[in-house]
Amino acid sequence: MKINRVGLLTSGGDSPGMNAAIRSVVKTCIHYDIECFGIRRGYQGLIENDIFKLKSKDVKQIIQLGGTVIKTARSEAFRTAEGRKLAYQNAQKHALEALVVIGGDGSFTGASIFGKEYNIKTIGLPGTIDNDIYGTDNTIGFDTALNTVMEAIDKIRDTASSHERLFFVEVMGRDAGFIALNSGIASGAIEILVPETKYNLESFFKNIEKGAKHGKISNIVVVSEGEKETNIYELAKRTKERFPHYETRISILGHIQRGGSPTCADRVLASRLGVAAIEGLLEGQNAVMAGIKANQVHYTPFEEAIQKRNELDAHLLKTATILAI
Ligand code: F6P
Repeated sequence: MKINRVGLLTSGGDSPGMNAAIRSVVKTCIHYDIECFGIRRGYQGLIENDIFKLKSKDVKQIIQLGGTVIKTARSEAFRTAEGRKLAYQNAQKHALEALVVIGGDGSFTGASIFGKEYNIKTIGLPGTIDNDIYGTDNTIGFDTALNTVMEAIDKIRDTASSHERLFFVEVMGRDAGFIALNSGIASGAIEILVPETKYNLESFFKNIEKGAKHGKISNIVVVSEGEKETNIYELAKRTKERFPHYETRISILGHIQRGGSPTCADRVLASRLGVAAIEGLLEGQNAVMAGIKANQVHYTPFEEAIQKRNELDAHLLKTATILAI
């Protein structure tokens, strides 16, 4: 199928590796003789007609940069029918036949609705640090965020050990515990709280006691921000009440997790997915997300990618429990 003009946007929370994906989409378009147009600030730029031709020179030296050079936003206006109408009018002005959307499930929901309402093809690339998107083993940015968290906790561990303190570290993951589980294992946490599993205060206290018996002098508890049954402040308070002799501290890592130069794994993933997006469109794919599962490119319909959830790996959860003390 011949496609002549493609629009490209990043939407929702940024993630390291988005620039590598942008570069890959632009270069793949050049390879297949397609004109690529950048849209600034996601769907908002489509509504405001902030659309410009992306050339090879625009993507030079960006593979190593965090963030997104074409900016991102969460567009409220695109949620409305009027907003989407304006967006389509602007897409028509530039004769865009397809839209490549790099973002999370909210961005795919927008693409899915837009593609049903108007005559424009859509394809998504999973870009979020949360790794909460069905249809791909890893999302773009997840690996970098994990390494950032791991390095931060390693540093916290130094001071925790020196002072023999118990630290509660909150990590990102709006509704999902992928960052918490993986970074917790990688940094030797005594407890990892994730929204996907029930938390049990008593067993957590027992672990602390067991750890002390085994000579543990510092403790790190990783709490996912998505944890709904408790929160980091409540947990720290209850722990202090139970173990008054422990000095406790709370550390919220926050947006440091979203920035930074992407890891090799994220650059390669983003590069592969950029190629997969354009080749998918040329093969006739539409309203799907390109992902990598077991090292193979997979196209998952938006509806499935949005509705289904990636489960936390049961063996990883068990590993975390066994290694906790
Ligand atoms: O979805 C990615 C994410 O970083 C979540 O982990 C976090 O809850 C959210 O975005 C924060 O978004 P923002 O600060 O941009 O509103």
